[in-house]
Amino acid sequence: MTGPAGAAQALSRRNVASTLMDMTNTLTSPQTAGELARLFAAAQTQEAAHTREEAEQAGSTPAVPEEQLTALELANARQDVYMPVSAEGGQLLYALTRAARPQTVVEFGTSFGISTIFLAAGVIDNGAGRVFSTELSTAKIHAARENLHQAGADGPVTVLAGDGMEISSWTGGN
Ligand SMILES: C[S@@+](CC[C@H](N)C(=O)[O-])C[C@H]1O[C@@H](n2cnc3c(N)ncnc32)[C@H](O)[C@@H]1O
Repeated sequence: MTGPAGAAQALSRRNVASTLMDMTNTLTSPQTAGELARLFAAAQTQEAAHTREEAEQAGSTPAVPEEQLTALELANARQDVYMPVSAEGGQLLYALTRAARPQTVVEFGTSFGISTIFLAAGVIDNGAGRVFSTELSTAKIHAARENLHQAGADGPVTVLAGDGMEISSWTGGN
């Protein structure tokens, strides 16, 4: 489209784009972006080491097959493993939280809190809402709480210890 109508449309598109750029985005704050970068780098380093280890141990039989472990035993056995959402997946969690503006976000499996930081950033930028996340591994719960704090995203988050399948016990039945 050309002429005054086209110019008005282009101007309006520019306004929308600059408004979006100007909108508060916790993910771009140095504190949150820095902590996410640190966590993703640590997860990537660990993944590379794990891949090398797996290649070295190929063919050997584990002491106890994973299928024989309970969820808690498995979570404890993997208490050092990040297994995070991807950066793109995290951005999607943030965008969905911003779009849906939920009062309550429920997450199963906090791990080290990477996905929780994205959800919390969405809730913070919405100006309302809380994130409830649950994790079986005690070591991970401690690490996630510290990581959320370092990211400046712990305000709206409750990390609960326990089985995510028992929702009523960790949201107070609401
Ligand atoms: C794939 S990781 C989660 C990754 C995390 N959401 C992130 O993006 O950083 C899955 C996590 O779920 C936890 N988990 C497994 N079964 C669970 C259960 N029944 N209740 C709560 N947490 C559980 C594991 O200990 C593990 O830390």
